Amino acid sequence: MQRLAPALRQDNVPLDLISLIKTILAATKEISFRVSQAHLGGLMGSTLDENIQGEVQKKLDVVANELFKDILLESGFVRAISSEEEDTSVAGDQNGKFVVSFDPLDGSSNIDINSLIGTIFSIHEAIPDMDAEDPGQFQQQGNKQVCAGYVLYGPSTMLVMTTGSGTHFYVLDRTHGGYLLVERNVQVPKDTQEFAINMSNQRFWQEPMQNYINDLVAGDTGPRGKNFNMRWIAAMVGDIHRVLTRGGIFTYPADSKKPEQPYKLRLMYEANPMSFLIEQAGGLAMTSTGRIMDIDPTDIHQRVEVIMGSSNEVEACLSYYK
Ligand code: F6P
Ligand code: MN
Repeated sequence: MQRLAPALRQDNVPLDLISLIKTILAATKEISFRVSQAHLGGLMGSTLDENIQGEVQKKLDVVANELFKDILLESGFVRAISSEEEDTSVAGDQNGKFVVSFDPLDGSSNIDINSLIGTIFSIHEAIPDMDAEDPGQFQQQGNKQVCAGYVLYGPSTMLVMTTGSGTHFYVLDRTHGGYLLVERNVQVPKDTQEFAINMSNQRFWQEPMQNYINDLVAGDTGPRGKNFNMRWIAAMVGDIHRVLTRGGIFTYPADSKKPEQPYKLRLMYEANPMSFLIEQAGGLAMTSTGRIMDIDPTDIHQRVEVIMGSSNEVEACLSYYK
């Protein structure tokens, strides 16, 4: 099995980006270890704080964020970072060539039940003449990402990553301490009979989504003429990993549960990196009105509607909005 650096060189990834990726992965190896030892190390449960988005911070969220942040800021490769757990972007090295957005631990509600969680990251080139302190560094569309990926802390610690030449799967091999390529150019099947949505929000969705899901649930007695199965891991990394592995549609649509917050998932460190991975695997990553990666970001924590996965099924869903 191929090691990571040769696999990246085969895709003509520049050496400075390879160095940054290796830095990121060093942090994920430590997070993977801390996650596996969380109970033993007194890292279960919540802190007394909330993050800027009003979410309770778990102890492991904080540990993962500090690890990731420190290793990136010390690396010299990074002009600035932004994280789900940081109120604002944080300046790094003015000579750093890249900016990194990350969700240090996605699916935090799964921590305490020993279920799937992961780290999501998205890399852009820094805007050349812009200050490291300037949050404008992060106002770049998803289609400008030079790398995106996640590390899933499951039964295997798996890296799923793209640098724009397909989406590849790697597994952390603890015998030598590095990631090995296990599947090159993963393809999301175009058709699926599996959907992922938080059904408990049904009454808060807009009408097109209500109608679409009703038709899926009606199965072979409804207009779709086939049965669908439902899965919900409650961690985007876990649900997207299933979609990349065997197809499916994953959506977190607009809802009116909290009128001031119509969407749940964050553009910069959840929707954009996952969109890059899904599109590089032949899937679609959309909102009900357009491509996620074409959105002009205005805020590092902005939220967005997400409909992604198997291309024919995403199109079927979008046809209800027309
Ligand atoms: O980070 C947000 C997140 O935890 C995603 O990972 C996940 O897909 C979603 O929220 C789960 O939402 P809910 O709590 O509504 O099931
Ligand atoms: Mn998250």
